[in-house]
Amino acid sequence: MNELIELINKANYEYYIMDNPSITDQEYDRYMQELIKIEKLHPEWVKDDSPTKRVGGEVISQFKKIVHEKPMLSLSNVFNEEEVRDFDEKIKKEVVPNYVCELKIDGLSVSLLYENGKLVRGATRGDGVTGEDITHNVKTIKTVPLVINQPIDIEVRGEIYMSKKSFNQLNEKRKLTNQELLANPRNAAAGSVRQLDSKVAASRNLDCFIYHLPNPEDYNIKTHYEALEFMKSLGFNVNPNIELVENVDEVLKYIDKWTKKRDELPYEIDGIVIKTNDIKQQQLLGFTSKYPKWATAYKFPALEVLTKLKDIKFTVGRTGQVTPNAVLEPVRLMGSVISRATLHNEDYVLAKHIKIGDIVSIRKAGDVIPEVVAVKKERRTGNEIDFKMIENCPICHSILIKKDSAYYCVNEKCDKKKIENLIHFVSRDAMYIEGFGDRIIEDFYNMGYLKDIDDFYNLKNYKEELKELEGFGEKSINNLLESIEKSKENSLERLLFGLGIRYVGSKTSKILAKKYKNIDNLINAKYEELLTTKDIGERIAQSVVEYFANDNGMIDKLKRHNINMLYLGKTNVNENFDGKIFVLTGTLSSITRNEAKEKIEEMGGNVSGSVSKKTDFVIVGENPGSKYDDAIKLNVPILNEQEFLSKINN
Ligand code: IVH
Repeated sequence: MNELIELINKANYEYYIMDNPSITDQEYDRYMQELIKIEKLHPEWVKDDSPTKRVGGEVISQFKKIVHEKPMLSLSNVFNEEEVRDFDEKIKKEVVPNYVCELKIDGLSVSLLYENGKLVRGATRGDGVTGEDITHNVKTIKTVPLVINQPIDIEVRGEIYMSKKSFNQLNEKRKLTNQELLANPRNAAAGSVRQLDSKVAASRNLDCFIYHLPNPEDYNIKTHYEALEFMKSLGFNVNPNIELVENVDEVLKYIDKWTKKRDELPYEIDGIVIKTNDIKQQQLLGFTSKYPKWATAYKFPALEVLTKLKDIKFTVGRTGQVTPNAVLEPVRLMGSVISRATLHNEDYVLAKHIKIGDIVSIRKAGDVIPEVVAVKKERRTGNEIDFKMIENCPICHSILIKKDSAYYCVNEKCDKKKIENLIHFVSRDAMYIEGFGDRIIEDFYNMGYLKDIDDFYNLKNYKEELKELEGFGEKSINNLLESIEKSKENSLERLLFGLGIRYVGSKTSKILAKKYKNIDNLINAKYEELLTTKDIGERIAQSVVEYFANDNGMIDKLKRHNINMLYLGKTNVNENFDGKIFVLTGTLSSITRNEAKEKIEEMGGNVSGSVSKKTDFVIVGENPGSKYDDAIKLNVPILNEQEFLSKINN
């Protein structure tokens, strides 16, 4: 039995901590089954640290309080470069430091106590002085060794966390069984260790990193980095991304690197921990009542903030879809002030139980459009007002029609829809008529100059009147009219996209323009024929046919304005680019990313959003993102801006 326990513990260590197993899963299962058999036959032999305990089963009636031998302190926070430098300056007044930089794992801290090399107790931080005994749950965590490599007494501290993968799996499971979803991996981990029945923790797939040795002097250890090495040698899971650095500039580089790379990690981090390396220096610097003075945590800018949802207002989009929007008490989030957030649709609001007056958390989805994530129900006062979907269009008052989870205004004459259509027509990927902000279009619409998209080309007839409008003058009207004229020469795909045909986005427009070459071919194309086009499905084919059957003479009107309706193709094919796949990352100094994309496409290349083995080149500008690392990993040729530009000129 002892031999089996040793083999299983070794296998666990190799598998979970070293990521380098030396036995097969089948062999592991066989050892485990054999051990279970022996333990069943001889319950009196079962050891407290038996690996069979990992599967859980121990149930406690309440959490025992334990007093930490040394208080478990928290860390002070810094939020930007200046504060990191201030921290460094303060330290340098006392000592000449080296720093250890670590990832700040987003979980909950734990103290592990070993006697004679065996795990005897796991405890939460609690209030720092008194924590709770969670030994039964800690034993189920595969990255916590039940026995370490030396028969010594030792306390180590670290973080229990749940990987992103386990968290997603857990929520998937909860969704299927209609249980409320957990907000984030940290809450999920905390909830799991606060269970009386260890089966729950065992099923949750928790993990643990060790990052602190409270009594280094007992082991004759002189630096924090040495302490980490020592704990690693004992068999603890120490994070592999720790770096020993010389000065604050290198600390800032580490912060910068992990700010960019944090999404690639399989677990969540909420910042970077900076610790002075030398233990004597740590002792000299000492503690405040709450924090060590020799360490601090750089916190990443919040991705989510709390604010009050003051009202819900409805907007009408180009397709007529009516969207509820949260009107928020303005808050700062990732560098901008946010006062609106999308609520998507009725189902979304109801599923999240959002009421007017609620305190809500908001985040920027995909870093751009803010959205409401969750309601803080515990902060309700009772004065909140239930949400009710409207039945009529907020602009034209016609009855809304529900389709799937969205409501639509189907009134073709609805002002808002028309304005949105006009805005879309001039947008960058459509006709790209520069100088028209949303506001100008709305004003021109309300004044009657713009009613439908062909009216852009009639504006020149009102030049004298327009010049007199407040905020305009000869020069700005001339510029506007010039860019309208210029748009007449656009290739067919821009016009197709600008028409606003449902389901025909800019990519589909390109496919159609390339295949049909001119608008008449496309108008004459039958539904079945459209379907034979690559990437054109029933929904798009149907929509194209319907559009041209009911366009109220719009195409003819546009033809009368001499608008080009031919596919001009790649105007400038270059063999360096033709058929090749490019990926852009970082900021280019001489052209914008959109211009670079247009150039590449014009010369026959394609631009993709992610790096794969099929990518031909990755173009790298200033401050590149993870795509740069992907390119190196996959051995994809890299071009800097200069090399890219000279490829164009060749
Ligand atoms: S050191 C005296 N290192 O962050 C040393 N803490 O906000 C105290 N944390 O309570 C902790 N990763 O739960 C340290 N690499 C790391 C950490 C880390 C996460 C947590 C820990 C601490 C909290 C402070």
